[in-house]
Amino acid sequence: MFKKILVPVDGSEGSWRALDTAVELGKKFGGELHVINVIQPYNNAALLAVPLDHATVSQGNSELEKIGDKVLEMAQERLSTYEGETKFSLEVGHPSERIIAMAKKTGADAIVIGSRGLSGIAEFFLGSVSSKVAQYANVPVLIVK
Ligand SMILES: Nc1ncnc2c1ncn2[C@@H]1O[C@H](COP(=O)(O)OP(=O)(O)OP(=O)(O)O)[C@@H](O)[C@H]1O
Ligand SMILES: [Mg+2]
Repeated sequence: MFKKILVPVDGSEGSWRALDTAVELGKKFGGELHVINVIQPYNNAALLAVPLDHATVSQGNSELEKIGDKVLEMAQERLSTYEGETKFSLEVGHPSERIIAMAKKTGADAIVIGSRGLSGIAEFFLGSVSSKVAQYANVPVLIVK
């Protein structure tokens, strides 16, 4: 049933808990784990208060890519003993939109996601990414508290 599980991670504790839960599910169903991190490039931010020149924007984006790669590396380490298939992708765009689109594109059977992420304000149960994914994804979504 859960043969292909999409696990979006942002490097937060919540997302590592989600990854650990995905491992448990993956072991049970002998499935593939597809870990993704989504970075939002600066040039998308049309509302930047301070206009940035091209060099500053590209430098900012390459920094974002480095952070994204680092997050995926950490995920890879965490999955080093996982016996099933694993995949890692760095995606660019709006996080919830990319996660939902990737689930469709790859034919994922489920998404396992943290309830909260890097912002970590505990006031609400869900962050904006987990909330949109739960609302709009067309596959089952497991939200890990
Ligand atoms: N950029 C991202 N790439 C991949 N997964 C993400 C990304 N951002 C969030 N997630 C996933 O969504 C979960 C919930 O994070 P979310 O961003 O919704 O909460 P938050 O950071 O606490 O609040 P917000 O970002 O809305 O201020 C994370 O644990 C992670 O699994
Ligand atoms: Mg967040």
